[in-house]
Amino acid sequence: MMNNAIDILACPECLGDLSVEAGKTLQCTKCNKIIEIIDDVLMMQDKVQPSFFDMPCELLLEGEKSEALWSFSHLNQSKIIEKELKQGDKILDIGCGRTVYYSRPEGANVIAIDPSFPSMRENKMADIRVCSNAERLPVQSNKISAAIYFYAIHHFVGNNMDINKENVQKALSECRRILQPGGSIFIIEMTLNPWASKLQSLYWNAGRKLLKERLDAFMYTKEEIIQTLESNKFTPLKESYLSFNTQAFKFIPVILRFPWIKIPKILVPTTSTLFHWVK
Ligand SMILES: C[S@@+](CC[C@H](N)C(=O)[O-])C[C@H]1O[C@@H](n2cnc3c(N)ncnc32)[C@H](O)[C@@H]1O
Ligand SMILES: [Zn+2]
Repeated sequence: MMNNAIDILACPECLGDLSVEAGKTLQCTKCNKIIEIIDDVLMMQDKVQPSFFDMPCELLLEGEKSEALWSFSHLNQSKIIEKELKQGDKILDIGCGRTVYYSRPEGANVIAIDPSFPSMRENKMADIRVCSNAERLPVQSNKISAAIYFYAIHHFVGNNMDINKENVQKALSECRRILQPGGSIFIIEMTLNPWASKLQSLYWNAGRKLLKERLDAFMYTKEEIIQTLESNKFTPLKESYLSFNTQAFKFIPVILRFPWIKIPKILVPTTSTLFHWVK
C-alpha cells in the first residue's frame, strides 16, 4: 500500500513527493511534513470537522433497504462507470464514503478520499484510503485516469452559497490538475429543476445560519454543473449528461437524515444525472 501510495499521492501542504519512513509513516521530501497513518488511513486533512457521514447512513450502505431509491440513484450509474473503466486505471473516488459501488477491471486501483475518518476506516473496498477533501487533493499532477464524484459535490459546502460554488470550482480545478490528459471525470448528482434551484437560493443562506453544519447540502442544476465543467476546460464525451429517472409514483426517501420521509417521485424536483467529461 505504502509504495503504491507514494507513486500517486503528494504532500497535502506543498504537493511535494512523499517517501516511506521507517516502513510505517510517509514524509514529504520537500517540507518534511509527516503523514500519520491510522488504521491504514492516510491522515492528510488540515482540520477535522465532525459530519453526518461519520455515522453509517443505512440508505447509502444497504441500498436494498430502499430498492426504489437504489435503482434510481446508484444501480445503472455504477454499471456505466464499470463499462468505462479500463485495466490498470488509477481511479480517484472523491467523497467515496464507506464503500465502492462499482467493480473495477484487473489491475485498476481505487484511491478513496473523504474527510470523514470513520468512513475511510470502514471502507475496505478501496486500495488506498485518504482522509482529505476535494478542494485540495493531496495527489500528484497528471497521474489519475478517472476521477469519480458519486453524490459528493453537493456536500462541498461552506457558510454561504458563494463559498459553496467556489468550493466546487476549486474541486474541479484540482481535478483537472490531477487527471492525465484524456482522463475522465464522472460526476453523479441529484440535479435540481430550475424552479427548485431558485427556491433553494431564497432560503439557503438563512437556513445555514440557523442550522449551521446540519445544513450540509447545496444542490445544483445540470446547467450549473456543465458551466463549471466548461470553465475548467473539460470536454463532454458523447453527450454532456445522462439522466436517470424512476416511476412517477414510486415512493422514495429524499433526505438521508430522515429516511422514513418518502415522497412519490413525481413530487421530487431532482433527477439523477451522470456527467462523463474528459480532460
Ligand atoms: C452523499 S455521501 C456519498 C457517498 C458515496 N460516494 C455514495 O455515493 O454513496 C457524500 C460524501 O461526501 C463526503 N464529503 C463531504 N464534504 C467533502 C469534501 N469537501 N470533499 C470530499 N468529500 C466530501 C462526505 O463525507 C460523504 O462521504
Ligand atoms: Zn510538503
